[in-house]
This record gives sequence, structure tokens and C-alpha cells, in this order.
Amino acid sequence: MDPALLIPTPDTIPAPWGWFQFFLILTFFVHLIFMNAMIGSAAITLVRELRTPPHDPSACRDLANKLPYTIAFAVNFGVAPLLFLQVLYGHFIYTSSILMGAYWLSIIAIIIPAYYGAYIYKMGEGRLIAYRKPALAVSLVLMMLIGFLFVNNMTLMQRPAAWLQYFNQPNGTILNLDDPTLIIRYLHFMVASVAGGGLFLAILAFFQQRKGIIGAEARIKSGLKWFTYATVVEVGTGIPFLFTMPKEVHQLFVGGALGHTALFSAAMLTTFFAIYYGAKEKLWPTTVALGLTMLLMILVRDLARQAYLAPYFKPADLTVAPQLSPLYLFLLFLIIGVGVVIYMLKLAANAGKEVRP
Ligand code: HEM
Repeated sequence: MDPALLIPTPDTIPAPWGWFQFFLILTFFVHLIFMNAMIGSAAITLVRELRTPPHDPSACRDLANKLPYTIAFAVNFGVAPLLFLQVLYGHFIYTSSILMGAYWLSIIAIIIPAYYGAYIYKMGEGRLIAYRKPALAVSLVLMMLIGFLFVNNMTLMQRPAAWLQYFNQPNGTILNLDDPTLIIRYLHFMVASVAGGGLFLAILAFFQQRKGIIGAEARIKSGLKWFTYATVVEVGTGIPFLFTMPKEVHQLFVGGALGHTALFSAAMLTTFFAIYYGAKEKLWPTTVALGLTMLLMILVRDLARQAYLAPYFKPADLTVAPQLSPLYLFLLFLIIGVGVVIYMLKLAANAGKEVRP
């Protein structure tokens, strides 16, 4: 059977596709920053906690307070790219979400205990103290599980040929396990999170240093060390990831197409600078280099998705039925929403100061 027959007819879109593409990239970038801060700092914190003798005070009190925030932001900034993804690729992402529906819907049930775990870790005192480390470990494992389900869906959506499995397995339990890129792509995201988490810790410590908090300088160095080592490992996962993609996709980035190759080379260059500045313990240049690398890699990832789907579909093929008011309304609420979030964070920071002795 021709897999193209399984692809539903796309809906019309209310504005030219470039708008949705722009917002997809932008909001996914923000999602990824928080996702990295969340998983990476939870992983590093767990390692530090496990190294701390049982009766010593917690190694990461400051981080414990931040973890629930990072989860809230990662989840909420996931919703926006999901909307834009559905506008552009709805006929692919809806199909793959249904094929793995049992797992996909379970994400909501998984995220709730992950959140609880972070709160137990944050607030665990008195009788709860013995549960703090296990709660953090469970929370981390659950967050990583969600990441795994996302990688499954994002790869299944771009492989309509794999959808034929539905006829043998129609109960919503299909995962994309036979895709050679799956595991290495997942590792690529998880290792990136450790790097991003290390940098997040270094940035937090920088602000502590400005307040004169003891030990902050050592924490900046330690965060940058995590960042640098994990980024080197990240290069080690990126190369096999690229080459496990089908030839017609990966070749575009290694000389097959000028724009693709230029973008990928630029990402390699900024990665080099990120490692260089990380090793030199230069916090802000490292942060800029990482930000650029993430942005370029998101663009590379998007071009790879377009190359996967090229035999079936191009976003430019979508029919535009102009109706700009919903987009303007979205922009208005985005601006108001970001303003409210900044205000809320300020309130939360001030509340923290009042409680502190
Ligand atoms: C613990 C929570 C989460 C983790 C660890 C996580 C992790 C990830 C990872 C690793 C990817 C990349 C997958 C790939 O490209 O193969 C991803 C993509 C994505 N995530 Fe999340 N995610 C989480 C929560 C959410 C939530 C709750 C939403 C939406 C409500 C969301 C929306 C998205 C979207 C839309 C993409 C794909 C964007 C695109 O393909 O352009 N995420 N996430």
C-alpha cells in the first residue's frame, strides 16, 4: 500500500506559512531552553545529592527551589510550538499522535507525579526528608520518559511508511522503535540537556556571586565544567545522529545543498566557540555561543524534517484562506502573557526574599 494514501488532507491556513514557521521556531527555542534547564539541572542535582553523605545538609538547596519553575515553564512553553506545529504539520502530527495515542495521552499522567517529585524534593523536610532524593530521582526519570515519547512522536510523524504498522497494531501503542535515528536522537537531546543544565547552574551561581553568597564562584566553575564536558559528548552523539538519517536527508547538510550545508557549518562553528569559552570559564560568551548553536540546530532540525517529508508535502503547498485576526489576537495575548509572567516572577522573587531570615 502507498503510505501517501494514509496522509489526511491538510486544512487551509489563515496566514502565509512563514508566519507559523517563524513562531514555531521561536517558541520551540524557548521550550528547549527550559527543557534543558529542567532535565539538566535535575540530573546534575541528583548526582550532587548522591555524592553528599546522608547526614550532611543538602548540596543543592538553591536548585531545589528553581526546579518546579523550570518544569512549569518547559510545559507551558511546549503548548505554543504544539499549536504552530499543528497548523503546519497537523496532518502528520495528528496521525502519529493517534498511532501512539496510548503513550501520548499518558504524558499528562506522567507529568503530574514528575511535578510532585520536584515539590517533594523542594519542600521535603521533617518526616519527608528521607524521600527527597528518591523523589528527585523519580521526577527525573519521568521527565526523561516524556522526552522519549516526544522524540518518538516527532520522528514517527515524519515517516508515513511506518504508519502501515497500524494495520497490525491498531490500538494506539505504536512507537517508532525501528527508526535507526530514534535512540541516538534521544541521547542527543538528553546530553544537550545536561550541557544546558550545567550552564543554567552557572548562570544562577553568577547572580548569587553578585549578592556575595559564599561558594558561588566554585558553583560557576562547576556548572561550566558540566557544560563543557557534556558539549564535547554532545558532538559525539551528533555525528552518528546525522549519519543515521536517510542518505537523501543527511547529504543535504554535508555538501548536498548550499543553504543546508552553510547552516550546519555555522552550527558547528558556534559549537566550537561554546566549548572554547566554556573551557576558558567565560560565562557570558559561552551563553551567547550556546544560544546561537541552539537556534541554528533548531533550524537544521526543521530543514531535516522538511527533507524527510519532501516526497509527500511542503508547507508552501498549504492553501491560505486569509483570516489574520486570530493571528493578531494570538500576538496580543502572547505579549500580555509574557508581561504577566515577568510580573509573576518578580512577585515570586520578592516573596522569597521576605520569607528568608
Ligand atoms: C517533561 C516534559 C517535557 C520534555 C522532557 C520534553 C522534551 C522534548 C524533546 C526532547 C523534544 C524534541 C523531540 C524531537 O525533536 O525528537 C520536544 C519537542 C517538542 N515538545 Fe516537549 N517536552 C516536554 C513537555 C512538553 C509539553 C507539555 C508540550 C506541549 C504541551 C511540549 C511540546 C513540544 C513540541 C510541540 C515539540 C516539537 C516542536 C517541533 O517539532 O517543532 N513538550 N520536547
